[in-house]
Amino acid sequence: MVDYCQQNEPIECVKNILKISESLGELKDIDAILDRILTESRRLSDADAGTIYLVKNDSLKFSYVQNDTLIKTGEVDKAVYSNISFTINDQSIVGYVAMKGRSLHIDDVYNIEPDMPFHFNPALDRSAGYKTTSMLTIPIKSSMGIVIGVIQIINPKEETGASIPFSKEAQTFLPIFANNASVAIDRGIMTRELVLRMIKMAELRDPSETGAHVQRVGAYSAEIYNKWALMHDVDEKERKHMKDLIRIAAMLHDVGKVGVSDMILKKPARLSDEEYAKMKFHTVYGARLFSNSTSELDALSGDIAINHHEKWDGTGYPGEINALHCDPKIGQPKKGEDIPLAARICALADVFDALSSKRAYKPPWPDDKILKMVTEESGSHFDPEVVDAFLAVFDIINAIREKYMENEDRNLECAFETRIDEQ
Ligand code: C2E
Ligand code: SIN
Ligand code: SIN
Ligand code: FE
Ligand code: FE
Repeated sequence: MVDYCQQNEPIECVKNILKISESLGELKDIDAILDRILTESRRLSDADAGTIYLVKNDSLKFSYVQNDTLIKTGEVDKAVYSNISFTINDQSIVGYVAMKGRSLHIDDVYNIEPDMPFHFNPALDRSAGYKTTSMLTIPIKSSMGIVIGVIQIINPKEETGASIPFSKEAQTFLPIFANNASVAIDRGIMTRELVLRMIKMAELRDPSETGAHVQRVGAYSAEIYNKWALMHDVDEKERKHMKDLIRIAAMLHDVGKVGVSDMILKKPARLSDEEYAKMKFHTVYGARLFSNSTSELDALSGDIAINHHEKWDGTGYPGEINALHCDPKIGQPKKGEDIPLAARICALADVFDALSSKRAYKPPWPDDKILKMVTEESGSHFDPEVVDAFLAVFDIINAIREKYMENEDRNLECAFETRIDEQ
């Protein structure tokens, strides 16, 4: 416990843990919260890697991963979006810990005592090209004592980089941090569900605005932003902060569709010019929902809602709107950097997803056709730097697409109901 807890000062250590726990309150989206929890847990123990699983429908769903060794290969960015789950039983390490509700420290996962019921599954190591040695697996409990997830911290390092067992301090203090973090995790899950509930209202009107579509657009936007920020040397704190906000704000890009009539939204054919003119107001209706607010997230959501159909060359809509609330008129289109970055990013994420999905008015496009179009429209429809960032993370984009397929909607629904039943 290098930074905080080295001098055998448990009080200082606990104080620090409380401070870090509190700072989780700055983050909104569940992925950003899990990212911070893993960063801090690994820092507290000098560990190379870590994974968080969250309880969902009686199983443990893989929810986040960090790995300093593998980060260089780029595999980790993709792995964040993988769909793995473990049954909660004594066969796996994480399942055992969730079932017993107690932490488990293993010095060498390849030499687990034979009388233990669980075994280490080397498949994950093998597919990642990684060697797990020591592992500290901790249940994350709510204030009611219910296990809501498991955090697994792997391979603490010496200064030389060699792998060592976990210190006594790590074993004592990480479980405290895990339990404090449960408040933030619960809040993050609630936020995501609240947003999806809002989308559901829009989806009742427009069948193409599904939970899966908005989860994809949110995640694509977050990852494109992240890459853009890395390319522009944005500092890490700002990068993680904006990535968190963009994820949620981009999910809400089309909520303004609730204000468009069914006749237009559900039309199973191409829109007439007149209908398309009405459709354009979904940007304005969306922005109304977020106006008059002082929250940074609302401001960003409003920026994206109103600007996500602007085009880099100034041929998009709705342009400058003077009166958001009464009698708005489509204005002079914005262009270039007058369009907020988050909206330039969401524009590409949205079009990419619309083209790769089936719509009532069109079949899905094959990837090569989409990529050709995106590349051709770089500099006209899309910001060229945003296109570059998008192409650079295209394998993460694909991992996201696989994670949020259309049937994911139903799972979210069930997860929500289970959580309510448990209370
Ligand atoms: P959406 O379906 O989510 O599409 C988002 C954006 O993706 C569109 O913005 C457009 O830029 C792009 N896009 C979608 N499909 C195609 C396509 O087949 N070809 C090309 N080149 N681009 C495509 P846009 O045009 O401003 O449309 C905004 C929303 O208006 C759409 O959201 C959809 O809900 C609705 N819409 C647009 N055109 C039609 C249509 O012909 N029929 C119906 N029923 N709805 C339409
Ligand atoms: C487990 O804890 O058994 C699954 C995680 C892993 O194999 O690394
Ligand atoms: C339209 O012109 O109807 C919208 C563009 C498109 O969906 O192709
Ligand atoms: Fe839109
Ligand atoms: Fe959309």
